[in-house]
Amino acid sequence: MSAPAEAKFTEETVLWVKRHTSKLMTFAITRPESYRFTAGQFSRLGFRDGSGFLWRAYSVVSAEYADTLEYFAVLIEGGPMSARFEAMCAGDSILLDKTATGFLLPDRFADGRDLVMLSTGSGIAPFLSMLQQPEVWQRFAHLVLVHSVSYADELIFNQHIAALADHPLVGAFVHQLCFVPVVTREQVAGALGKRLPELLQDGSLAQYAGKLFSPADTRFMLCGNPAMVQDTFKALINLGYAMHRNKIPGQIIMENGF
Ligand SMILES: Cc1cc2nc3c(=O)[nH]c(=O)nc-3n(C[C@H](O)[C@H](O)[C@H](O)COP(=O)(O)OP(=O)(O)OC[C@H]3O[C@@H](n4cnc5c(N)ncnc54)[C@H](O)[C@@H]3O)c2cc1C
Ligand SMILES: NC(=O)c1ccc[n+]([C@@H]2O[C@H](COP(=O)([O-])OP(=O)(O)OC[C@H]3O[C@@H](n4cnc5c(N)ncnc54)[C@H](OP(=O)(O)O)[C@@H]3O)[C@@H](O)[C@H]2O)c1
Repeated sequence: MSAPAEAKFTEETVLWVKRHTSKLMTFAITRPESYRFTAGQFSRLGFRDGSGFLWRAYSVVSAEYADTLEYFAVLIEGGPMSARFEAMCAGDSILLDKTATGFLLPDRFADGRDLVMLSTGSGIAPFLSMLQQPEVWQRFAHLVLVHSVSYADELIFNQHIAALADHPLVGAFVHQLCFVPVVTREQVAGALGKRLPELLQDGSLAQYAGKLFSPADTRFMLCGNPAMVQDTFKALINLGYAMHRNKIPGQIIMENGF
């Protein structure tokens, strides 16, 4: 990712870092008052790197109205940004591009009754932000959040999702949400065990959610592993759904999570 010009970023402070497993971490940074984003968008975070910069995209986990900016990072072996995150501590400086970007936005759907959010790995991040916005709960009758990971210890947001029940702005709506954990490389009670395209094709996702999915009522948002996004998109096309474009309404909006 090319470096934004000096004037296009601010220098922020890392407020806290939590390490959940050897490769999963969450952290928060200071938020400049002028920083604006819509839930579902991503920031560009950076570090100075010799005479240049290192920049990568990270979906914002925080609510639009939060005082700080929280992120969820999957550390990649040999990845340059991952190495910087591995060493990062509270008090460190981090660069924030002034502009947030992205089109994974639920209000792009003009119609539809139910919203199904399909994620793998770090692709859950934008949905965690959306779920803190009352508008999405008011807009859709039912919300289904699906998080697919390989191993059970990667389901690090179970507590966070359960805590939405006590959230001052969205707590009253949480009965509309069904959270579906998916663990693909070990058997876990209460979690589904197959990859997302198969769960859609064989009806087990709809069955778990207790919903009938249909092009008339259901809207899908996809985020995560690009191969998952592609394979799930194809599965949905085979089931009669179509890509949503602003001028040609459909049922699928997607973003590659890396
Ligand atoms: C729109 C967008 C949003 C993103 N949001 C997030 C986010 O919220 N959290 C996050 O951890 N990453 C996110 N990423 C990926 C992130 O920008 C970095 O690529 C990632 O942190 C690895 O950086 P790196 O320099 O260590 O390795 P890189 O050299 O950038 O990546 C090396 C390889 O690691 C794999 N990879 C990269 N990111 C991931 C990932 N998240 N999960 C699994 N495999 C991956 C890919 O195969 C990639 O080719 C996002 C990317 C995009 C394009
Ligand atoms: N080589 C390996 O065996 C291996 C294993 C884990 C992670 N990694 C690497 O570790 C990093 C982080 O990985 P991660 O586990 O956070 O993310 P990830 O590899 O994207 O996996 C997250 C979830 O996405 C699923 N998935 C992957 N491809 C899919 C597809 N085409 N369709 C549907 N679902 C799909 C995975 O299922 P599955 O569990 O069935 O893949 C898993 O449930 C990446 O760089 C990854 O390449 C490698």
